Amino acid sequence: MHAPETLRFTTDQLELIDQTKLPMQLTYLVCTTVEQTHSAIRRLVVRGAPAIGIAAAYGVCLAQSGDPGAAATKQDYLEAIEFLATSRPTAVNLFWALDRMKELVETTPEPELKQTLIAEARRIHEEDRKMCRSIGRNGAALLGEVDSVLTHCNAGGLATSTWGTALAPIYHLHQSGRAIKVFADETRPLLQGGRLTAWELSQAGVDVTVITDSMAGAFMRQGKIKAVIVGADRITAAGDVANKIGTYSVAVLARHHGIPFYVAAPSNTFDMELIDGDDIPIEERDRDEVACPHGTRIVPDEANVMNPAFDVTPAEFVTAIITEIGVIESPNLENIREHFAATV
Ligand code: MRU
Repeated sequence: MHAPETLRFTTDQLELIDQTKLPMQLTYLVCTTVEQTHSAIRRLVVRGAPAIGIAAAYGVCLAQSGDPGAAATKQDYLEAIEFLATSRPTAVNLFWALDRMKELVETTPEPELKQTLIAEARRIHEEDRKMCRSIGRNGAALLGEVDSVLTHCNAGGLATSTWGTALAPIYHLHQSGRAIKVFADETRPLLQGGRLTAWELSQAGVDVTVITDSMAGAFMRQGKIKAVIVGADRITAAGDVANKIGTYSVAVLARHHGIPFYVAAPSNTFDMELIDGDDIPIEERDRDEVACPHGTRIVPDEANVMNPAFDVTPAEFVTAIITEIGVIESPNLENIREHFAATV
């Protein structure tokens, strides 16, 4: 089965699968302006660290001049980059992609800018496709004979260009005929696991079972889960991992039950300027995502609500990080540096 493209770009528009509508409807939202792209990222129409970076890169290409009929200037592109950088704070891929675009804006003659920027955004998109396949290969080798995994949130095709990060090894194994069972945490409050991971895996014919977040420990204790594999929004130079809220609890549970806890992420998810995961900016989202899901109020108005979108799992809980380059066992400052130095 051929999966629908998460993002598509033609010269003047960006089309995004509207992930807020899945699994009920598969529709595309069309963005023709920087503002619409910013809103789509902010509202999680497009989400997942690599997909946010790709969307933002295309979003820059939609910058328009304030002067009707005139071409966008360097200043227009720089303002677009600055604005898109305010859409979400945690996934470092967003800033990585925008930095690449900014460098080109600064070094390219104005008449060639638009075409150069579109080519760069397409390159970022294409690199992501290759990255997913490589993570799939590297992760499948690491999983070995493991036949059941737990994943949290959605780090699949919907979060990237094709196979995702955490789900890439699953797709790789599935394609090579190996039966593997996936438990998907539903992932409160926005249910990326129950809505998105379950949707894309079942579309692909992968055996997927949705459990509520609070069931993970019991299933581990019963021996139903042999490994955990998740994605990441930002990884520090020392291996601390920011990912969807709830990931830390899963990592602690995995450690208690002696189950490997794997993180799959491309090199552009590493923030080598940070060491301590507590320095990663964590997005705080609207209270209604928790208190009023799908328009139904479930928390009294008088009660306080907290809604951090991500948490940080210290490196000590991470068995290995799978990148497009290879595998970093027991990640720390030294072996992460070595992993990337080996490729330069
Ligand atoms: O808030 P979201 O849905 O953008 O959060 C996404 C995640 O936490 C993913 O696990 C992460 O971005 C990795 S995607 C390959």
